[in-house]
Amino acid sequence: MQEKDNLFDAAAIPTELCGARVLQSALDRSLQERIVAQLRDIVVKAPLHRPVTRWGKPMSVKMTAAGKFGWISDTRGYRYAETHPSGAHWPDIPKEILSIWKLFVPEARDPECCLINLYEPNARMGLHQDRDEADFSQPVLSVSLGDEGLFRIGGPERSNKTRSIWLRSGDIVILEGASRLAFHGVDRIKPGTSDLLDKPGRINLTLRVVT
Ligand code: SIN
Ligand code: MN
Repeated sequence: MQEKDNLFDAAAIPTELCGARVLQSALDRSLQERIVAQLRDIVVKAPLHRPVTRWGKPMSVKMTAAGKFGWISDTRGYRYAETHPSGAHWPDIPKEILSIWKLFVPEARDPECCLINLYEPNARMGLHQDRDEADFSQPVLSVSLGDEGLFRIGGPERSNKTRSIWLRSGDIVILEGASRLAFHGVDRIKPGTSDLLDKPGRINLTLRVVT
């Protein structure tokens, strides 16, 4: 199985950051490359789009998703939806991505959404909580691919002190337990720090249980 091929570093020593579990270099390069190839197939079926906020302001991150649900935002507000804005169902979550979830959060229910965020060099994501899901006892697991991103995390109140870490390609962050509702965001991307993707930028996958 994949673990024997050392595609995952299941023994990676987790760092704790505001209660979140950070696993640096958790995925090896060949697995990252295969995931990127699988994402290319997904974006053919479910093209990346740039969501707008409820107030009509375009977000800087481009998004798509795989799984039963995707997360969308438009002038009707933000929510999980069973279809892409084109009306098509989201593609399935690739098996290798599901196996990352199973390895690192084996107790959790199966993920129902793999949100795919593309950060082009000037994109960022403001501090927010992931709280559109029904069951906060279930973790959120994120996978970083491509250029480094400066990830910031605090606590359950926006005013809580935050800490930052540069996330590199192959790193995993798990929001679970007390950190599940921690405010978090991405302040900036450092273009040119990885050659995984064809173009400068960062991809972040977040796996979530929605219902
Ligand atoms: C997110 O909060 O949805 C993404 C976090 C990240 O890009 O690392
Ligand atoms: Mn989030």
